[in-house]
Amino acid sequence: METIDWKNLSFGYIKTDYNVRSSFKDGKWSTPRETTSESIDIHMAATCLHYGQEAFEGLKAFKGKDGKVRIFRMRENALRMQASCRGILMEELPIEIFEESVLKAVKLNERFVPPYESGAALYIRPLLIGTSPQVGVKPASEYLFLVFVTPVGPYFKEGFKPTPLVILREFDRAAPHGTGTFKIGGNYAAGLVAGEKAHQMGYNAVLYLDPKEKKYIDEGGPANFFAIKNNTYVTPLSSSILPSITNMSLIQLAEDLGIRVERRPIPEEELATFEEAGICGTAAVISPTSYIDDVEENKSYVFSKDGKAGEISTRLYNKLRAIQYGDEPDAYGWVTVLE
Ligand code: PLP
Ligand code: COI
Repeated sequence: METIDWKNLSFGYIKTDYNVRSSFKDGKWSTPRETTSESIDIHMAATCLHYGQEAFEGLKAFKGKDGKVRIFRMRENALRMQASCRGILMEELPIEIFEESVLKAVKLNERFVPPYESGAALYIRPLLIGTSPQVGVKPASEYLFLVFVTPVGPYFKEGFKPTPLVILREFDRAAPHGTGTFKIGGNYAAGLVAGEKAHQMGYNAVLYLDPKEKKYIDEGGPANFFAIKNNTYVTPLSSSILPSITNMSLIQLAEDLGIRVERRPIPEEELATFEEAGICGTAAVISPTSYIDDVEENKSYVFSKDGKAGEISTRLYNKLRAIQYGDEPDAYGWVTVLE
């Protein structure tokens, strides 16, 4: 195998040995099977290409000190993919097919799970697409599900160092009761222009406001938002954000650490009162926020001046990573150990 510099992996695609596929045809899902092909051959009128019938997931596998491979909260990703299917009328993928395919893809590519010491992980990308031809706007009758994996380092190159976010009021990633709660490609296409603009301006990501009133914090481009004040973990309640499994986990861990939790709308002005802030997700883990600029309103909210993450964010980060890598007991059954 070509040598991989595990400690300096970025969040990108590295070819692995196999991906695993199952297709839905004549009312049935096929048994998940591995292939070495990185290509798919689909009809040019497939609904995924024209009408965006596409959903994906993102989860990770970690190698522990004990050499065992642990997959984090696979069941939650399977359930969220089912929600995405209902959201854009795709055939609902059975949990068993999702889990069997993920396990198989990780097992077959076990040599690509980064070593414990590297702090890297194997990113698992399940994808579901409508494949049958349709020229009228209608759901497909046939679907392809596949799972590929690739070793990754941090999504933001700074890792667990605070970085700045920007509010760009001229952009929304989703409509108030649109598809923002589903993990579908269209939401990410909708965010590309804003994301690019943010990067050009020197920010790490966009922080979206709620699309209806432009008053409340929604989420970051690839991750949920959270903030800390008075020993309280505060995270937005909104009908246009993705229900993050990392955020759900941090909420539980915060409660376990004796930190209060509030899930509620967060008006932008409240940013001025937070002691810590960050965005969280599978790829980003926790990316602490140094400051947030609202450029049109000429406002700036600062959370970290010394280049360090806040105390509670650090405790949460350490706790989450310890469970993922198997350094601490998995009290909630979040982890599937690969056999
Ligand atoms: N929000 C968006 C828009 C995302 O793309 C992601 C990434 O999956 C998240 C939040 C975080 O979700 P999770 O923690 O389940 O990865
Ligand atoms: C994830 O965190 O898994 C994501 O999907 C974020 C981004 C790569 C889209």
